[in-house]
Amino acid sequence: MKTHYKIAVLPGDGIGKEVIPEGLRVVKAAAQRFGIALELVEFDWASCDYYAQTGSMMPDNWKELLLPMDAIYFGAVGWPAIVADHISLWGSLLKFRREFDQYINLRPAQTFAGVRSPLAGRTAGDIDMLIVRENTEGEYSSVGGIMYEGTENEVVMQQSIFSRRGTERVMKFAFELAKTRARKHVTVATKSNGISISMPWWDARASEVASAYPDISWDKQHIDILCARFVLSPERFDVVVASNLFGDILSDLGPACTGTIGLAPSANLNPERRFPSLFEPVHGSAPDIYGKNIANPVAAIWSGAMMLDFLTNSKGAGHEAHDAILAAIKAVLISGPHTPDLGGKASTTDVGKAIAERLLASN
Ligand code: NAI
Ligand code: MG
Repeated sequence: MKTHYKIAVLPGDGIGKEVIPEGLRVVKAAAQRFGIALELVEFDWASCDYYAQTGSMMPDNWKELLLPMDAIYFGAVGWPAIVADHISLWGSLLKFRREFDQYINLRPAQTFAGVRSPLAGRTAGDIDMLIVRENTEGEYSSVGGIMYEGTENEVVMQQSIFSRRGTERVMKFAFELAKTRARKHVTVATKSNGISISMPWWDARASEVASAYPDISWDKQHIDILCARFVLSPERFDVVVASNLFGDILSDLGPACTGTIGLAPSANLNPERRFPSLFEPVHGSAPDIYGKNIANPVAAIWSGAMMLDFLTNSKGAGHEAHDAILAAIKAVLISGPHTPDLGGKASTTDVGKAIAERLLASN
């Protein structure tokens, strides 16, 4: 068991540079309280400022620099006024996800007291789900092309790719995760009525993996009705597993049903730990509010809690630190201070400090 963890800190662009310092404030406070030794190494690349200076998003040796790290703590990337989004995203974050085989994208969605859900009548505890998105293959492949471009015979094709290994590992992750939950239920997103080759095959992989988990209940639902149920009866969901495209949609819809995007955290995981995993808020760089110190830091802080939990395999000090950070977040969401997205007047820094203080006070 490791006792010392090396973490690369990449704030990136825009409000990434405002929320990551607050995340670090809370992560450091938790590390101190629970006796976790962290070595934080900050980098200014994976940002559009770096691109403006050098013509690329990252130095050539980025992989060498990040490989020895136990985790990557990431803000957000993107500044469309300087660099087109497909260049900034494919030149940084998507390289990490693919080259570090971060095949799980994990996004929790929960309703909290003190935060109004856009779904009428939903309150704290009504929604508590974990969305597991396949993060490396599926519909997001680079296999395809355009033929006869610009003529009346023009055709375009882009292949979805599902591998047995890739599908089995994401299913297994979801069922293992369900074991740790009170309700122990997995919902598999599918579309086997319409996509008649790959999706029945996807369902069959789910069924095979499920047979090894007799204590976990599971069902499969077509993506269209599943989206409707996220809105109509979100309380029925526990762990939801989906392909890359369906998971992308669900993992925005789920957190949206709980309140502000300023709360939603995520983890990009390589569960075998052959490569560093990456923890980041779901939101982007928010150019519209950057520089005012009003971004909600909770998503970044919660992502930092997920990082500590993952570092110690959801056991011991990191797990306790995670739970204590989440408790401090919940307390501050009730008591305030609140940033403007939650109807308050507080700054990013005020909220970060309040959560760190609450964490240390509950000691
Ligand atoms: P965005 O998430 O940056 O902003 C969407 C809206 O939500 C904006 O009105 C923003 O002010 C608000 N918002 C976002 N985070 C907030 C927070 N913490 N507190 C309060 N309000 C918050 O998405 P948008 O505008 O589509 O993209 C802006 C840039 O971010 C683009 O360059 C995009 O490519 C990039 N992006 C990067 C992501 C990443 O690094 N993982 C994810 C999403 C977008
Ligand atoms: Mg998305």
